[in-house]
Amino acid sequence: MKRYNIAVVGATGMVGRTFLKVLEERKLPINNFYVFASARSAGSTLKFDGKEYTVLELNENSFKDHKIDIALFSAGGGTSLKYSPIAAESGAIVIDNSSAWRMDPAVPLVVPEVNPEDILKHRGIIANPNCSTIQAVVALKPLHEAYQIKRIVYTTFQAVSGAGMGGYTDLEAGLRGEAPKKFPHPIAGNCIPHIDYFMDNGYTKEEIKMIEETRKILHDQSLKITATTVRVPVFNSHSESINVEFYNTFELKNLIDTLKNGEGVVIEDDVAKEIYPLALNAADKDEVFVGRIRRDESVDSGVNLWVVADNIRKGAATNAVQIAEWIIANDVIK
Ligand code: A2P
Repeated sequence: MKRYNIAVVGATGMVGRTFLKVLEERKLPINNFYVFASARSAGSTLKFDGKEYTVLELNENSFKDHKIDIALFSAGGGTSLKYSPIAAESGAIVIDNSSAWRMDPAVPLVVPEVNPEDILKHRGIIANPNCSTIQAVVALKPLHEAYQIKRIVYTTFQAVSGAGMGGYTDLEAGLRGEAPKKFPHPIAGNCIPHIDYFMDNGYTKEEIKMIEETRKILHDQSLKITATTVRVPVFNSHSESINVEFYNTFELKNLIDTLKNGEGVVIEDDVAKEIYPLALNAADKDEVFVGRIRRDESVDSGVNLWVVADNIRKGAATNAVQIAEWIIANDVIK
């Protein structure tokens, strides 16, 4: 069996550590394995598959010297902008978790349950979508195929882990009454309707990412989409209210069956028993949980959904590792 040299860039970060966990669990056919980060953590060690690996400082020769086949990046946009082309030039395929390349027309933006075939168009870099977008499109893809979506209204309730280690420690410290360092306001006991920076039209960059990335992944620029993204005092898993309007009519029972058959979707919807998706239950899982499925009675053909997933796993690390698995299974690296 063919084995691959795999590197994780940003291995000491929140998503980077989860890359290691997911790679270990899913048992990819790895030949040599390397962990890279900045000079700050070079020399420290990380455990992977029962062995200690020394963290190496990333430099321009890292990919060439170690003959890397697949590089999983989660080290911020700046690092990715600089090093992804260098990695691609040396023959590696980069799967990048930052937002640096997502909207580049030459870079596939991939959720394996939704548009895996886009991987074949890669020129060395494949982008992993925004965490909030990934879980939304996993649920929306089967519905778009069945009923053709006209309009989407997203409202998100996003965990602090989405802001990296700094977000996590802000909530921990805030619960002890300490002031925030990462967020502009206290997150403990609060909801902050501000993720990423504000743009000229009053939207945040996070909201625009959800809008543009949904269109790109579903291959439909005509979709009407609006979004409000909110940081909430939850450690892990993003929750989303998604209101969808369709061109075609539907029977609610059939729509639920369509969702049930959707790849990567798990239905949790039994309100009589108080069953609906919850952030605490979704944490550490790889599926997208959907519940509170009910007709939007204010329009001719619409539905409301409550969609929850682990933002660090399916929203980042698992999705990237699934892309790597698809590359390997389809022998994309010659
Ligand atoms: P380091 O630990 O050396 O700072 P998070 O988003 O959770 O804060 O993680 C960011 C990750 O990106 C960390 O692993 C961090 O490494 C890494 N990183 C940041 N800047 C660079 C850089 N210039 N080169 C390589 N890795 C970087």
